[in-house]
Amino acid sequence: MPSPLGTALITGASSGIGATYADRLARRGYDLILVARDAQRLQALSERLTKETGVTVDVFPADLTDRAAVRSVEARLRENDAITVLVNNAGIGPKGKLLEDDPDYLDTMIELNVVAVNRLAVAAAQAFAVRGRGAIVNIASVVAYIPERFNGTYSATKAFVLNLTQAIHSEVSDKGVKVQAVLPGLTRTEIFERAGGSIDNLPPSMVMDVTDMVDAALAGLDQGELVTIPSLPDSADLTAATAARLALGPNLSHNKPAARYGVAGA
Ligand SMILES: NC(=O)c1ccc[n+]([C@@H]2O[C@H](COP(=O)([O-])OP(=O)(O)OC[C@H]3O[C@@H](n4cnc5c(N)ncnc54)[C@H](OP(=O)(O)O)[C@@H]3O)[C@@H](O)[C@H]2O)c1
Repeated sequence: MPSPLGTALITGASSGIGATYADRLARRGYDLILVARDAQRLQALSERLTKETGVTVDVFPADLTDRAAVRSVEARLRENDAITVLVNNAGIGPKGKLLEDDPDYLDTMIELNVVAVNRLAVAAAQAFAVRGRGAIVNIASVVAYIPERFNGTYSATKAFVLNLTQAIHSEVSDKGVKVQAVLPGLTRTEIFERAGGSIDNLPPSMVMDVTDMVDAALAGLDQGELVTIPSLPDSADLTAATAARLALGPNLSHNKPAARYGVAGA
């Protein structure tokens, strides 16, 4: 029998954060559609979660750097009315600093972290708005707020995800659709090894276990947060940063340059 909660479609569900969302959402009673390239890992996760929770778990192997494959996931999101949650999570990290990274690899990163994420978020926003319900969880990163401290292409992809989420929220919040950007700090997953690094080179005091990260992010979703930073002790700090940004609003577009530039006619 289909779950009354509906189905959660999770990208990057074969490991790390996505696999943990799959576990937690199955335990909450959602049916699942698991998307990633590694069909065997998806199948193994599907069998375990079906056995342990009794929900229906479909696997959808897809390489999300392939635009035709992204279109097929998009079609599923648009056509399957049972889908009530998108966890837009698949992503890759940098191989090092920008000056040492391979530009072709950075293009692939943009294809996965930006182009595919955008396509699926827009499809879900449009479909969920018509259905009058649903939740979109976009996995960004705290590096969206600290571009000076990380590979610029990676942090820019995550700033894209944060901006996109905030903008979608302003269009769908009155249509019964929840939107959340999750900004993890360093989280213990395969992402560092996959990019040729090692999690062991990172300060342990800064690395969160993936289950804690996802449980905090889901608590943030339950609390109705638009932006969730699992590490941040005081949410007032984020509120203040957002207020400072919004305070710029009235002065971001005038018909004359500011007087301090001394431009004739100002
Ligand atoms: N771990 C951290 O410290 C951290 C911090 C902030 C944000 N994040 C973000 O969290 C998200 C999940 O990362 P993670 O840490 O859980 O890393 P992970 O363990 O490496 O998981 C990445 C997932 O993305 C999938 N994936 C990679 N390339 C793909 C492709 N071309 N097409 C489809 N799926 C693909 C992988 O599956 P397949 O290999 O089977 O395709 C895997 O399921 C990413 O967006 C990452 O940027 C992570």
